[in-house]
Amino acid sequence: MTQNNCRVCLKKIDEFMSFGKMPIANSFIKKNEINSQFFYNMKVGFCQNCFTFQLIDVPNAKQMFNSKYAYLASTSLVMQNHWRKLANLIVKDYKLNTNSFVVEIGSNDGIFLKNISNLKIPHLGVDASSNVSDISKSRGVNSLNAFFNTQTALDIRSSYGKADIIVSTNTMHHIEDINSAAEGMSKLIKNDGTIITEDPSLKEMLVKNSYDQIYAEHMYIWSLSSISSLFNKYDMEVYDIKNNTFHGGCSRYFIAKKNKKKISNNVYFHKKNENRIGINKMSTYEKFKKRTIESKKRLKDFLTKLKESNKKIVGYGAPAKSTTILNYCDIDGSLIEKIFDNSETKIGKFTPGKSLIPIEHTKYFESYYSEYCILFAWNHEKEILNKEKKYKKKDGKWIIPIPKLKVI
Ligand code: TMP
Ligand code: ZN
Repeated sequence: MTQNNCRVCLKKIDEFMSFGKMPIANSFIKKNEINSQFFYNMKVGFCQNCFTFQLIDVPNAKQMFNSKYAYLASTSLVMQNHWRKLANLIVKDYKLNTNSFVVEIGSNDGIFLKNISNLKIPHLGVDASSNVSDISKSRGVNSLNAFFNTQTALDIRSSYGKADIIVSTNTMHHIEDINSAAEGMSKLIKNDGTIITEDPSLKEMLVKNSYDQIYAEHMYIWSLSSISSLFNKYDMEVYDIKNNTFHGGCSRYFIAKKNKKKISNNVYFHKKNENRIGINKMSTYEKFKKRTIESKKRLKDFLTKLKESNKKIVGYGAPAKSTTILNYCDIDGSLIEKIFDNSETKIGKFTPGKSLIPIEHTKYFESYYSEYCILFAWNHEKEILNKEKKYKKKDGKWIIPIPKLKVI
């Protein structure tokens, strides 16, 4: 749907960049689906009123979240650890027990809630994609296959009561009617409860120039400024913030009803840092656009030159982010022969859009000869380079596309 007004505050939005026609990032396709792909115009805007960075056009939610959703959170051991730690921290810090109630919005394959379920703490995971919701059920997670909005929140409240904790990781950027979701959270949370959201950080995206964070499923890139604008509308405020390096740099926001919790110094520091990089100024986005265009040219020229000298190039990791890089930079199967990935939902398929690169299981990477490998899952550099040490020993070279093109 096209929206010329901001989805948070409804004021006019300033569009500043177009990435051209894009497929849905996670819509890895079979051969017979190549000619029936869905495309939308990927344009981004920044709201100078509430400071929300967002897509102008977004595809219908059912195009993105359905029985074929390809992202399985549990494919990474590092992420499994990350969400286990969050579960342990919440149980300890908020003294959760068998009388508590934890809700997760966007519970995916149960990667986080299975830890809560193992402790017999009442919980409910809500996810719009039925395939991942079914996986979470098979892991003992109480799950509801639904889109989260105010009505879903009221239904949950009448069936289970109010929640002590609502967690939503890497999901706030997926929800088009974000006002309905935030209002729903405010009605579902207990008076002294805490909402914890974690998403890729706009500050980190600007600093790293990681434009590949932008795709249909990421219709917003949140910042402390914009998440505060959103929740302030529903009498809530951010009282703490913690940053981490996952997914290329995320911020975890702790949100409560206004005046219920002491505002941590982290919030003041982070606000200062956002202002320091000009996160709320339009000129910052004009500069981001310029750097992104340069980054595209550098990568495309580099790969083209390698190909001209007959080098064999493959890819590693087919995250949603790679759909943006491949389609925006016009990279296809003529430059990159194949991409190795360990997600069952992607293996045997092709990368979406114009790129159409075949995806194979990572178990074949070691025995396959290539001189260069571009790491699209650049945020997992440590884990993957460690796992694939033999590639360098055979003189294979890694190409890291983001933050700055480098060869290792
Ligand atoms: P993400 O950055 O959104 O987590 O996606 C990472 C992609 O890379 C995902 O498709 C799984 C894939 N992957 C591997 O194939 N091997 C690995 O060791 C890791 C960490 C990820
Ligand atoms: Zn706005």
